[in-house]
Amino acid sequence: MQTTKNVYLDNAATTPLDKEVIAAMLPLMEQHFGNPSSTHAHGREVRAIVEQARKTVAELIHAKPAEIFFTSGGTESDNTFIRGVVETHGIQHIISSHLEHHAVSHTIEDLVKHGKVQAHWLNHDEKGVLDLNHLESLLQKHPKSLVSIMHGNNEIGNINPIERIGDLCAQHKAYFHSDTVQTMGHFELDMQKIKAHSVVGAAHKFHGPKGIGFMYMRKEARVQPFITGGSQEREMRGGTENVYGMVGLAKALELSLKGLEEHKKHILQLKALMIRLVKERFGDRIQFNGLSGDLDKSLYTVLNLSLPEHEANDMLLFKLDLSGVSASGGSACSSGAKIGSHVLQALNSDPKRGAVRFSFSKFNTEKDIYFAVDKLCEIYDMVSVS
Ligand SMILES: Cc1ncc(COP(=O)(O)O)c(C=O)c1O
Repeated sequence: MQTTKNVYLDNAATTPLDKEVIAAMLPLMEQHFGNPSSTHAHGREVRAIVEQARKTVAELIHAKPAEIFFTSGGTESDNTFIRGVVETHGIQHIISSHLEHHAVSHTIEDLVKHGKVQAHWLNHDEKGVLDLNHLESLLQKHPKSLVSIMHGNNEIGNINPIERIGDLCAQHKAYFHSDTVQTMGHFELDMQKIKAHSVVGAAHKFHGPKGIGFMYMRKEARVQPFITGGSQEREMRGGTENVYGMVGLAKALELSLKGLEEHKKHILQLKALMIRLVKERFGDRIQFNGLSGDLDKSLYTVLNLSLPEHEANDMLLFKLDLSGVSASGGSACSSGAKIGSHVLQALNSDPKRGAVRFSFSKFNTEKDIYFAVDKLCEIYDMVSVS
């Protein structure tokens, strides 16, 4: 049952479930209810299903099943590795950037607040491109650090060169964690090539269920658990497993990667169409935040627009919502009730301009894009596109 008729262009926040994912989860809900920790037949059959899901995920990212730990999602995975590496390996310096998701930046800030680490924030330019020379000089000063740099930025879509960053970390014997929440299921991630000690995934970003994710962790970087309790997840995460979620996640990742080229081509066409339409309508008055306007250097799923100064900028997302378009974002403003985007603020984006993030999935159509741009034109008193 669809609850709203709005055109959904907020797929970086979450994606609709794939029907095949639901079909894969149903037998678990209807028949296989055993607790995988039980040693009797009911438990054993579910244990086998869980281990198969782990194997599927491992194979899809060219890792070993022993390197995959199921969690509740991106936030828990980031916390587990970042906090764990500090506690377990005595790390005292963390190098990261102000453009990270709060799951990473707030975790680091909390560690700093409790006097556990010193944080070093990487320089970047006004497009959000990270300064790798700065990274190198920080690594020279603080060799045994933790570097936490995301792969694809959830707000501005920038893709960071994690293979190169992994090489730099390896040269300086630093731990490397990458928040890959926005690229998992949308890019081929080969853990034989990326020298990260940890990457993460959240199923709801690639048409899987919410509340389930995973952390990939290399053996040599093994950390203490973040959630203690039972011996589930090989003593890395206590608590009875979210079995439906694990099966749904594995199926969603499999479907996403199997159809990757086709989905990418379709979504890229939608993004290119939106870029063309807004340029035609708004001309120079529109800007693309970060690298999101560059099809080769940004996530094909994300387009972040900076709109002209206009009275419509107040409550822009609300107006879009009322017009039938679900999108998100927010300007650089952080005063009053309007909570601004920390990423746009870090890019010194003009708070008087409106900003909106459109994010796409395989389920969107050209019609959705025309509709959304038409609504933007109406809100900004422009002639519509269709
Ligand atoms: C880059 C990034 N990291 C982490 C998260 C948090 O993931 P979750 O909501 O699954 O905890 C998100 C979700 O928006 C994200 O985009």
